[in-house]
Amino acid sequence: MNKKNKRHEQIYFTTPHIISLLTNVTTSNQYGINNDTVERFARYMEKYPELYHQLADQVSSLTNSDKPIILDVGMGPGLLTAAISQKIPQAVIIGLEPQEKMLHFAQRKSKKSFSIIQAESGKLPISNNLLDIIVTRFSIPYWPDPSESIKELFRVLRPGGHVIFNALNKDYSRLSLILIKLHMAIRGAQGDVIRYHMDAYTLAYTEPQLRTMLVTGGFIVSPVAVSKKDWQFILTAQKPL
Ligand SMILES: C[S@@+](CC[C@H](N)C(=O)[O-])C[C@H]1O[C@@H](n2cnc3c(N)ncnc32)[C@H](O)[C@@H]1O
Repeated sequence: MNKKNKRHEQIYFTTPHIISLLTNVTTSNQYGINNDTVERFARYMEKYPELYHQLADQVSSLTNSDKPIILDVGMGPGLLTAAISQKIPQAVIIGLEPQEKMLHFAQRKSKKSFSIIQAESGKLPISNNLLDIIVTRFSIPYWPDPSESIKELFRVLRPGGHVIFNALNKDYSRLSLILIKLHMAIRGAQGDVIRYHMDAYTLAYTEPQLRTMLVTGGFIVSPVAVSKKDWQFILTAQKPL
């Protein structure tokens, strides 16, 4: 078996359909969301496919191997993971998520186009130096120790591999949050889904905070301009060669 196929073998061995690595059954409000809200959150986010397709384009623009291995950390209902599998069908794609009910949605979305692991960002059941790209969207606010998780991301990325953080901007103006609330209500979001999103801003990080964590973790971070007017931002970082 050549070296490239061996890399993919390692993944297939570790991810036969849903692999559960959490020993405790997830309780209702663990990971920042309860089971009732999960369904409403998933349905609401399905109204914004363009957000996921734009991010999938960005993932695609950073792939430079013919069969890249890509991990989506905190994939939730798998909307981004599915968009990446449409955009890069030849890739080996893994979605990682700890919350049981999110996993059920992701499994439905997957249609076997990506593998699924039930695990947390702080303990990735993946070999060292394996992945080409890691992407994570709006999940970092819920990581108990983001600096430790960033060490894990660094460990599993291959040298030269990229991590893409799509994050809520903690610096976003409080006044504008009222407009987001209004927008969500008009687009049919229920109270608990709006609260989930607003709470995430309380837990979120600013771009300088995230940048510092990535640099401290050993990454080379690409420059990006973020202002108080941006409700979200994207930071891309590379593991040095
Ligand atoms: C706001 S949702 C975003 C879901 C998805 N990335 C999206 O953009 O549609 C945050 C996700 O992070 C997951 N999460 C929470 N704690 C986590 C952890 N420690 N490690 C990985 N994912 C986690 C939650 O279960 C949830 O699915």
